[in-house]
Amino acid sequence: MTNLEELQSRIASVRKAIQTESSQLTDTKKIYELRKAFLDKSGRVGQLMKYMKEVDPSQRADFGKRVNELKTWALEYFDSLDEQMRRKELERVYEQEKIDVTMPSHRRRIGNLHPVTQVRSQLIEVFSGMGFEIYEGTEVENDYYNFTALNTPKDHPARDMQDTFYLSPEFVLRTQTSSAQIHVMENEKPPIKILSPGKVFRSDDDATHSPMFSQMEGLVVDKGITLGDLQGMLDVFVKKVFGQETRTRLRPSYFPFTEPSVEVDVSCFACGGKGCPFCKNTGWIEVLGAGIVNRRVLENCGIDPDLYSGLAFGIGIERVAMLKYGINNIKQLFESDLRVLNQINDR
Ligand code: DAH
Repeated sequence: MTNLEELQSRIASVRKAIQTESSQLTDTKKIYELRKAFLDKSGRVGQLMKYMKEVDPSQRADFGKRVNELKTWALEYFDSLDEQMRRKELERVYEQEKIDVTMPSHRRRIGNLHPVTQVRSQLIEVFSGMGFEIYEGTEVENDYYNFTALNTPKDHPARDMQDTFYLSPEFVLRTQTSSAQIHVMENEKPPIKILSPGKVFRSDDDATHSPMFSQMEGLVVDKGITLGDLQGMLDVFVKKVFGQETRTRLRPSYFPFTEPSVEVDVSCFACGGKGCPFCKNTGWIEVLGAGIVNRRVLENCGIDPDLYSGLAFGIGIERVAMLKYGINNIKQLFESDLRVLNQINDR
């Protein structure tokens, strides 16, 4: 028969083992494993009960009580150890995640809008400030809208002004945003005040022409519209886009859909109008075509030209961007060369 004292020392050594073995541990997972090793059914604390049969029956209750005390102690011991570890682990996480807000930051590269987009937004901003609404047409257009309704029937010599991509005898890639005028006038009654930005296409390719480029069409139809209104609006636009000191000049021109037709020049912003290589010594730079809407065009859309008159203009967006940012080859606007694009930021 083993005496109680010996058993008590066994109990004590299990308790000691719990303390020494746990003292090395640094995380909750290991603590949990150790806890299982001692407190599971077949764990080292439970195993002590095996000695029960070796204990004198009169002392069994006492022995059982002591084993239970050890168990209660161990449960609390592991609980508090677990809590301590959790706290330490959290502290470690906080420490690792600490941010030093005084550290110099990484420079983040921010892109900018494409120059063509910048100019388009500026134009929209200026004209919407004057009450223009945006109408976006389609890039594939019916021959009628692109030409015939704009007073340019088949075999009209003005068709040669634009080298057209025909998709079929009936459909073309629109050569001008002017086609939007017809759609709007067919669907709306005056007063009309619209702006129509978009891509246009022509079989044309050199330093200042590209097979695809963008235009911004403007159309105003109301009672008593004159060239004076046109000049007033364009003045606001060129001053905003090219600078307050810029002046405009209307020069007679020809477009089938306007009568009279004008070309609008702005005073050269490189030399202020004195004459320089930029303006080919003329002091002026041409920026857009415009005019008073031809009576025939109004008639084609069911608008009475004796009651209403209109003004229209068409601005080449790449052309404005090239003039404004000093770009001498239109290809630079389509090559996505960041050395060029990064230099242009008007925002
Ligand atoms: N559509 C013309 C072109 O592409 C530009 C133009 C001229 C538009 C006169 C107009 C205008 O609205 O009135 O060359």
